[in-house]
Order: sequence, then C-alpha cells, then structure tokens
Amino acid sequence: MEIIIAKNQEEVSKIAASQIIKEINKKKCFVLGLATGDTPLDTYKELIKAYKNGKVDFKDVKTFNLDEYLNIGKNDVNSYNYYMHHNLFDHINIKSENIHLLSSDSKDFRNTAIKYDKLINENNGIDLQILGIGINGHIGFNEPDNKLLLDTHITDLAQKTLEQNSKFFPDIYKMPKQAITMGLGTIMRAKKILLLVTGERKAPVIAKCLRNNEINTDIPASTLLLHNNLTILLDEEAASIYLKEKKMKENENFNKKYPNYKREFNTA
Ligand code: GLP
Repeated sequence: MEIIIAKNQEEVSKIAASQIIKEINKKKCFVLGLATGDTPLDTYKELIKAYKNGKVDFKDVKTFNLDEYLNIGKNDVNSYNYYMHHNLFDHINIKSENIHLLSSDSKDFRNTAIKYDKLINENNGIDLQILGIGINGHIGFNEPDNKLLLDTHITDLAQKTLEQNSKFFPDIYKMPKQAITMGLGTIMRAKKILLLVTGERKAPVIAKCLRNNEINTDIPASTLLLHNNLTILLDEEAASIYLKEKKMKENENFNKKYPNYKREFNTA
C-alpha cells in the first residue's frame, strides 16, 4: 500500500489524473473503474484537459461505474448516469459502446447485477479502479454491516449516506433509499486501486480505516488494505487525524524503546 499526501484537493486531482493517464497509456484496451461524488470531479476535469491537450486518448478505453441509485431516471440530474456524461464522457472521445453504467430503472436488478459482473470478467477485469469513500467508510454503496457482499448487488442506503447525499435532492424523503453497487469482490479484483480522500470531513473515517491495521466490516473501506496494489491519495486536511495519530504512535514507541530519552514529537 502506498499513501500519498498532497497539499490540497487541486494537487490530489493533478496526481490522480497523471496516474490514470500513465496507466491508460501503458495498455491498448484499458478498463477503467469510475466513481462519482464530489471527490473525483476535479480529477475528471484534469482528464478532460489532458485529452484536449493530446496527452491521453480514450478511444480504446472501456469504463465500468461503481454504483447507481435505484429507480432514478437516467436523465435525472442526480443520477450517476447524468453525472458521468456531464462531468466526463461528453467531453472526451470515449465510444458510447465502451461506457458501462449500472441501470437505474431495470425491471430485473438481480439479472442486471449478474450480467454486470460477467461483463467485467469477460473484459479481463478492471485495470484501474478509482474510488472515493463515504463519511461512514462506504465504498461504492457497500455500507457498513456485519457482512459485506462480494458481487454486484442491491443495497439499502445507510442513514448516514441518506443524510450525506440528501443535499443533492429537494429533501431526504425524495431521494432513493436503495442503490445498486459493485460488491467488494468485484472492486478488489481490480488490478490497481486509487482511493481519493479529500477534505476535513473525511479525516475521521480515513484515520479509523488506517488506525489498527485491521479489517472491519463496519468500515467497508478497510477491506482495501488487503489489496496488493492500493494507492491512497489524501490531501492534508483529510490526512490530519491519521498523521497526528501516527506521530503519537511513533512517540510512544520511541519512549518505550529509549525510556531515558523522553521525547515529545510535535503532534500539532
Ligand atoms: C457516494 C458514492 C460513492 C462516493 C462517496 C463519497 O455516495 N456512492 O461512490 O465515493 O459517496 O462521495 P463524496 O466524494 O461526494 O464525498
């Protein structure tokens, strides 16, 4: 696992975009896993800029999105389908047949989920999966629970997620209560994972995720710690609690090892 701490959201987006471009340029038919939410928005802007400057070509790139709300029209401004077209696909040369979005209005979601995983497998899996994290530790819409599902599935949204995402809807009662999401097995089979975490509000959850070097189904993102090619890209605000705790641990270890040299590390 690699942890990169960048100055701010802008730097995170620049680093993320350059890593994505580097990977796309390495391989002819590239399979990119995409996330939505506020966090990757600037990364998508950087990708569009790079495409316009001829630094990356999406002609042979296939995409699979992580998740979608259930029963939301695909042209609804809050659908992830709309988000992806508006914020990325409409501005690059990706072929429409290479875009894979989870259907929000299928009559048979179970079948949609099975077909989605099958299609990902037929394309030899995802080469690079971009992820964000919910304030409750969710990945895609894999919510904290006593068990986590591996395959693409339907899920009830957690109360915290409803509260967090209701800002986009007229009110919490008008937002979908369920979603369809890639499962953690599908995500973990990606060859490389790039987790983007920005802003002060994400500091508690990422610190919790990295605190004890353990997997906890209450923090679905902790599953990612098992991945052998995981990069966590944080800005200084998101990294603040994690860094403070890391320094305190180093301090404790130092004082245990050298009890005669009591030393205070600056944890400010
Ligand atoms: C959303 C999405 C996730 C996203 C997360 C964080 O609900 N389902 O894929 O990563 O929550 O969103 P944001 O980046 O807006 O904080």
